Amino acid sequence: MTRIEWHDGLNLGIEEIDEQHRSLIGMVNDVLEAFEKGEKDTAVDRMLGQLHEYTVLHFNAEEKYMEKIEYPHIQEHRQLHAKLKGSVKSLRAARFHYEEVTPETIKELISSWLLEHILREDYKIVQFVKQGGTKDWSENIKE
Ligand SMILES: [Fe+2]
Repeated sequence: MTRIEWHDGLNLGIEEIDEQHRSLIGMVNDVLEAFEKGEKDTAVDRMLGQLHEYTVLHFNAEEKYMEKIEYPHIQEHRQLHAKLKGSVKSLRAARFHYEEVTPETIKELISSWLLEHILREDYKIVQFVKQGGTKDWSENIKE
């Protein structure tokens, strides 16, 4: 499985959030490497644990940010976060019951869900900010 490379197109221009997105990709690459070494179950479990922590931390930061800039689509965005958290939670529950979760499932969750989320949904936040956003935020941009 190929590694996921960070590229500038993934940058949202909001340092705190970009940093967290980069660390997510780092996490994913670590787990892909572990899969290649044959550490399947332990890598899956570790990844799910990290993803759980990450989603809580990162989504909270992002939601706080959306509140701060009075992002108009915050409710929909929150729901998407809840959905992602739900996927991680159900995979963790499956592992708790010793069900198999394949590396492919994890990779799919990451690439189609999280990366698409960054590119599509998080990007909408940036667009909102760039188009003027709230008064508070446009003052920040001029700095
Ligand atoms: Fe998000």
